[in-house]
Amino acid sequence: MLVFDGIDGCGKSTHAFLTVDYLISRGHETAFLKEPGADSPAGKKLREALKSGKRPSPREELMLFIEDRKWDVENRIEPALKTGKIVVMDRYYYSTVAYQGALGIDTKEIFELNSFAPKPDMAFILDIRPEMAVERIHRRRSADYFEELEYLKKVRNIFLSMRERPEVRIIDSSGDRDSVRREIISEIEKIL
Ligand code: TYD
Repeated sequence: MLVFDGIDGCGKSTHAFLTVDYLISRGHETAFLKEPGADSPAGKKLREALKSGKRPSPREELMLFIEDRKWDVENRIEPALKTGKIVVMDRYYYSTVAYQGALGIDTKEIFELNSFAPKPDMAFILDIRPEMAVERIHRRRSADYFEELEYLKKVRNIFLSMRERPEVRIIDSSGDRDSVRREIISEIEKIL
C-alpha cells in the first residue's frame, strides 16, 4: 500500500496517478483510491460542506473524515489488499492528522483514532512552500476553506513533523515533475 499526501497544490494527485501508471506498466494489479471518498455517506457530507462553504466544527469534521475512512477501509481498501492488489491512496490519515491537527486537535489523538486503518508500506508527503501551493491553486480555480495560506502553513508544519515515522518519505515537490517522479519510483523500487 502506497500513500500520497501533502498540502493542497503540492502535486500529490499527479504523482499518485503517475505511480499507478508505472505500477501497471510493470504488471502490478493496482487499486487507485481517493479520500475524502465520493461514495460514503460521510464523504458526501464533507463534499457538500465544501461546496456550500459552511465548515463543520473541528470535532464534527474530524469524525466525518474518520467515518469516511472506516467506510473506505471496509469497502475498498481491505477487499483490494485481500486480492493482492497494490493500493495507491490519494490522501490518507496523514491528512487528517495535519488538517484537523492544524485546527488545534491533538495530533497523537488523531493518529490513535485512525489505528483501525491499515498502515501503508510507504507514505510520500510531497512538500512545497504554501505560497507556491496557493499560487498553483489560484491558477486553476478559486480556493476553498482548506486552502487559505495561514492555515496551510500550519498544516505543512504538521506534515513535516511526521518525518521520523519509518514509512514516511518527505519529497521536495517544488522541482520539475520528472525528477520528482524519478525520486518516488526509486523509493518504491526498494520495496517492490
Ligand atoms: P482534495 O484531495 O483536495 O480533494 P479534491 O482534489 O477533490 O479537491 O481534498 C479535499 C480537502 O479535504 C483537502 O483540502 C484536505 C481535506 N482533508 C482533510 O482536512 N482531512 C482529511 O482527512 C482528508 C482526507 C482531507
